[in-house]
Amino acid sequence: MRHVVFVAPRFLHNTLRYTAAFIGLEGARVSVISEDPESRLPEALRERIAGHYRVDNCLDGGELTRACKAIAKGVGPIDRLAGVLEQLQLPLAQARDAVGIEGMSAATARNFRDKDRMKSVLREAGVPVAQSALATSAEALRAFAEKVGYPIVVKPPAGLGSKATFRVTSDEQLRGLFALGLSPSPTQPAQAEEFVVGREFTCETVAIAGKPVWRCGTRYYPGPLEVLENPWMQYVVLLPREYEDPTWRDFDPVNDAALSALGVGTALTHMEWFQRSDGSMLVSEVGARPPGVHIMPMMSLAHETDMIADWAELMSFERFEPKVRKWAAGTAFFRGQGRGDRVVELRGWDEVRERLGDALVEAQLPKVGQPRASSYEGEGWAIIRHESTEGATELLREMISRVRVVLG
Ligand SMILES: Nc1ncnc2c1ncn2[C@@H]1O[C@H](COP(=O)(O)OP(=O)(O)O)[C@@H](O)[C@H]1O
Ligand SMILES: [Mg+2]
Repeated sequence: MRHVVFVAPRFLHNTLRYTAAFIGLEGARVSVISEDPESRLPEALRERIAGHYRVDNCLDGGELTRACKAIAKGVGPIDRLAGVLEQLQLPLAQARDAVGIEGMSAATARNFRDKDRMKSVLREAGVPVAQSALATSAEALRAFAEKVGYPIVVKPPAGLGSKATFRVTSDEQLRGLFALGLSPSPTQPAQAEEFVVGREFTCETVAIAGKPVWRCGTRYYPGPLEVLENPWMQYVVLLPREYEDPTWRDFDPVNDAALSALGVGTALTHMEWFQRSDGSMLVSEVGARPPGVHIMPMMSLAHETDMIADWAELMSFERFEPKVRKWAAGTAFFRGQGRGDRVVELRGWDEVRERLGDALVEAQLPKVGQPRASSYEGEGWAIIRHESTEGATELLREMISRVRVVLG
């Protein structure tokens, strides 16, 4: 029996699905660390866990270490330690190091979490990446802009969800950034990158002991930064039907080289990458965790599997059965338009719903009265599955062109 500890900060819907997947594993005893009290865990799960430890802050490696030590003492030695969130990956690794649990170390986790370090490691390994620098002063940032030319991208070194990420196109805009108090400093450095013009893709990879055993990929239409810059813009993520599509398969060697340079070990990784119009490919960033923007359910649909359960098994037993692509899948993100901060109307859905037919798998529609979304994921979304990439693309296009979320 393997003893697996799963860190579930709060028992929210998505986290509970992951928690349930671990608890459902055959041959594993599962303990849970959370900020929510054990009593909040639904009974059906609570009665099946081996142990529980509550912490104040799951993002604190020291607290996770204490929790793991207590669980090891009370329940038994820990074989694996896992968690889903991007921000958890470093504290998890710190606890593994401190307690002696197999899995990704803190040194490796930093390769994935620290954007500057990631780019340096990749560059040194000969993996193509955008020019970048970690700027600790306004002067350094200005000097970087001068060296690579505008536009540049400025973002937090451990950012996520495109938060505080800016495209800067001129000296004037750079001064504007400084005027907003966003001047980099030694305590608040900024990651600066040359702006890559190209199409944006993802590559999801299952690696076991450093060896990629399976891949999937999606395309963002348009990329997250453009979506962020244009709050009214609805967008889609497409997972094509054809595994063999050369766009993705040509990227495999780059993906392989990048993951091996970063020291991936056993993980499901989410890589974002660009393809320029001349065909050249660049790695943008990599997370050593399951992908967001509904790529997990899309992967499940496209391969008729349960990726959450598959990931739990991978992280607990280093096992993964490669999947065969059977469908195309896609998600459309609906985003409010207008000045208000509440949804006042949803237009076009009924008509679109009819067109979707049984391609529609799951939707969370914007509701009248709902507040304006705070992230680029928008006020609502719909996931579809189709037997062809063209069919899926067409339906996604219909959705984002016909559905209107009116804010007022
Ligand atoms: N060097 C770059 N050139 C062009 N676009 C970029 C660049 N870096 C980031 N972006 C855009 O900004 C988005 C967010 O940046 P990313 O590095 O992925 O940070 P996060 O961790 O917040 O996802 C990317 O998905 C991409 O659309
Ligand atoms: Mg990203």
